[in-house]
Amino acid sequence: MISKFIDNKYDMKTFDLKISDGTVANATETFHADIGIKDGLITAIGKNLGKAKKVINADGKLVLPGGIEAHCHIEQESSSGIMTADDYYSGSVSAAFGGNTCLIPFAAQHRGQKLQNVLDVYHHRARPKSVIDYSFHLIISDPTDEVINIELPAIIDQGVTSFKVYMTYDKLIVNDSQMLKIMTAAKKLGALTMVHAENNAMINWMSEKLLNSSYKAPKYHALSHPRAAESEAINRAITLSTFIDTPILIVHVSTESGARIIAKARYDGHKVFGETCPQYMFLNAKNMDLPEMDGAQFCCSPPLRDKASQEEIWRCLQNGTFQVYSSDHAPYRFDETGKLHAGKKPTFTKIANGLPGIETRLPLLFSEGYLKKRITLNHFVALAATNVSKIYGLDHRKGSITEGKDADIAIWNPKLKKVITADDLHDNMEFTPYEGMEITGWPEIIIQRGNVVIEDNTLKATRGDGEFIHRKKIDCTGMPGRVAPELNSKHNFDVKFEF
Ligand code: URP
Ligand code: ZN
Ligand code: ZN
Repeated sequence: MISKFIDNKYDMKTFDLKISDGTVANATETFHADIGIKDGLITAIGKNLGKAKKVINADGKLVLPGGIEAHCHIEQESSSGIMTADDYYSGSVSAAFGGNTCLIPFAAQHRGQKLQNVLDVYHHRARPKSVIDYSFHLIISDPTDEVINIELPAIIDQGVTSFKVYMTYDKLIVNDSQMLKIMTAAKKLGALTMVHAENNAMINWMSEKLLNSSYKAPKYHALSHPRAAESEAINRAITLSTFIDTPILIVHVSTESGARIIAKARYDGHKVFGETCPQYMFLNAKNMDLPEMDGAQFCCSPPLRDKASQEEIWRCLQNGTFQVYSSDHAPYRFDETGKLHAGKKPTFTKIANGLPGIETRLPLLFSEGYLKKRITLNHFVALAATNVSKIYGLDHRKGSITEGKDADIAIWNPKLKKVITADDLHDNMEFTPYEGMEITGWPEIIIQRGNVVIEDNTLKATRGDGEFIHRKKIDCTGMPGRVAPELNSKHNFDVKFEF
């Protein structure tokens, strides 16, 4: 550890807030320093900084950038019409208690909807309720020419520079030619396409076979989404995106075979990113082998795999194949409003998919990743905040403790031990898949733009304190990629393709 600041050039300033004596960590460095905050920004990092209206003593604590949760479903209707259990209040409060100061949930287009209307609805939901800053990714399920050529550019101009497409789910699926259209638009507009990559036909085929043989219980969901369905779709999505040379991010990867395809594309210099989630590192399909409908609590897509897969996913996080680690918080209660919306004893195909985890994402990684020496503290920070701030165009404001950036800070107590239990979490769920796990290291104080959001285990922020953050266009500098030779006028008899 270095002590890099020795001067007291800020002596004469009065800060709004000073965090003193902490161990500060960014994605690239760890050092002892005080942090001076004024007008919502980090204005000084050093020693003997001088006076402040409020001082937080962080001796013995870790002072880290606030986490950025980049994949969560908040106040979102699923394609079957069910609403997530968390709205922008409970979702953002839970995120903050889990060490986050920024969220990027989805604004979901369902078929027939205009993108601007969709975005307006989500602004309307988030603005009065969110206690921390937020942006949105769009979900595109109806890529008509009007949507792609007219509506999408307007959305990207409004700072929503990423969108998700689905290769499965009957009401969301886009086919290969639609994917190419969407990706071409993303290339032209400087946006990032996120892909839920699972082969729909293989899932339907497996589901039909299982149901025909009366295998209906929740645990069979894990079999119905085979590993090969994920790797086939990842391969196809990456083939399409690298064909035209546009950035792509494969979300919630659950298999080593899928991760290898991502790693190979990155090795080849393509603009390909990978995300995984805690459920693929901490849970496995055995968790679903429960009596009655209890296994429904663990139904998510892609599904939980096995113990060996957990280790493989950890390795791919350690070796950098995954740059993004998100919760994929998709909160559906274990009742008729959520998991059991289709009846008391639905077949596995009719159970709402998704797990809660917005509050446990970072404590799980801190305890089992950093403290157990699977990753460094700096890698933890990269996965908590810095990587997504860069990938999703937020790094002009967030993702590191740097002079000039938003004072979004999480102060962690690395010694605090707690057992995870649903009763202590702040989401609107009555269960957590991590119930009973003992975790060491929790965030204690959360600061957003210089204001205390959480202190003494108490929420200090109020509804609507969070702001919408306009994101930059996607920058893949350093990832050269190349369009396919057939599209390159040097190799195609000088045919010029318009992108
Ligand atoms: O099962 C999951 N992950 N549900 C949430 C929706 C999605 O595909 O991300
Ligand atoms: Zn998905
Ligand atoms: Zn999701």
